[in-house]
Amino acid sequence: MLKIMTIFGTRPEAVKLAPVIKKLEENKDLFESIICVTAQHRQMLDQVLDLFEIKPDYDLNIMKPNQSLFELTSNVLLNLQPVLEKEKPDIILVQGDTTTVFVASLAAFYLKIKVGHVEAGLRTFNKYSPFPEEVNRKLTTSIADYHFAPTEISQKNLIDENIDKNSIYVTGNTVIDALFLTLEKLKLDQINNDLSPKVKEISDLCLKINPKNNKKIVLLTGHRRENFGQGFENICYAIKEIAEKNSDVEIIYPVHLNPNVREPVMRIISKNSNIHLIEPLDYEPFVYLMDKSYVIITDSGGVQEEAPSLGKPVLVMRDTTERPEAVLAGTVKLVGTDKDLLIKEANILLNNLDEYKKMSMAHNPYGDGKASQRIIDILKTIKK
Ligand code: UD1
Ligand code: UDP
Repeated sequence: MLKIMTIFGTRPEAVKLAPVIKKLEENKDLFESIICVTAQHRQMLDQVLDLFEIKPDYDLNIMKPNQSLFELTSNVLLNLQPVLEKEKPDIILVQGDTTTVFVASLAAFYLKIKVGHVEAGLRTFNKYSPFPEEVNRKLTTSIADYHFAPTEISQKNLIDENIDKNSIYVTGNTVIDALFLTLEKLKLDQINNDLSPKVKEISDLCLKINPKNNKKIVLLTGHRRENFGQGFENICYAIKEIAEKNSDVEIIYPVHLNPNVREPVMRIISKNSNIHLIEPLDYEPFVYLMDKSYVIITDSGGVQEEAPSLGKPVLVMRDTTERPEAVLAGTVKLVGTDKDLLIKEANILLNNLDEYKKMSMAHNPYGDGKASQRIIDILKTIKK
């Protein structure tokens, strides 16, 4: 029986690995599944663990307030060593490009344990954008034995780096599995008039700020390290102006817990009556809110992948993206963090229906909801 340890630490890794963990659990006769969380995130990780009812076997609990990359990197590495030495898994699974992903791969390599990399092959070709994720994922690629690429573009990026073709598998992105599972649950709960209390809370907020259904809800999220400082100042002043000049707009912003995000946000946009700052949402209410939104403005990787499946236009507050598929398809536009450009592009989407319609066609460039099954099928072929 193949012993697989899934290692993750942050909210997006948990969302994207939850469907894979569920499938591993469905195949108990073939796999021994062990879950280790670094808890690089604490509350934002626990929200996802609770929703998907995932109980870690190991919790390294390493999060510290405003942790530096140095602390984070060394704490993950040192705390993983005894767990890996004790369990000796045949393979570890990691997802994406956080510091947990790179360091877990490095730890596995030091012990000659094989690595499966979910969401492999995303690239911007700029090592400082996103920072440190572009380098995290390149380093992970150079260690990994199995590369689960979400799209053909990511497969090509790996081939261009001389990664053995036979070790690359195009699977789709597991985020779409998580999204579809959650949409299905929401639909059922709605039919049965049995929305979970946290979804009810966000649905009540939408009703309160938009009682006649004649307002446009703009969903905002942001957390990228390369945007800290001037970038976030620009974003906040742009959002303030968009809110002040568009009285038919209600902006909802679940604010990331990183203190470098919260400081400028609280200072600059906490007093506008049509900007609603709320705590990070559980995944299920967040999906509900994405679906209720008119436009999404974000720097998030995961949200860029989910929004096209919901037919929501996205403005991305970054200069680069490793997710070109939805940009090519026209639902996602890169706008960077220039204040005037962000205001201009938001005003076009909010006030020009033709432009809006062009950007709001639903399509699934990142997957069909079956990525985790494909990953499991590949894992089944691996010999101990
Ligand atoms: C991390 C990842 C980033 C990923 C993002 C997803 C790295 C270096 N960064 O960025 O790639 O896109 O997560 O959200 O791997 N905090 C809390 N509670 C939480 C989570 C964070 O209080 O549940 C605060 C803490 O003060 C923590 C700080 O946020 O020190 C930063 O967390 P960290 O994981 O280092 O960076 P993120 O900006 O969250
Ligand atoms: N998300 C969530 N609650 C929120 C904001 C985002 O559940 O308040 C989800 C979102 O749907 C996506 C993931 O978290 O699946 C993205 O996380 P984040 O933006 O923090 O990280 P990134 O994807 O940029 O690495």
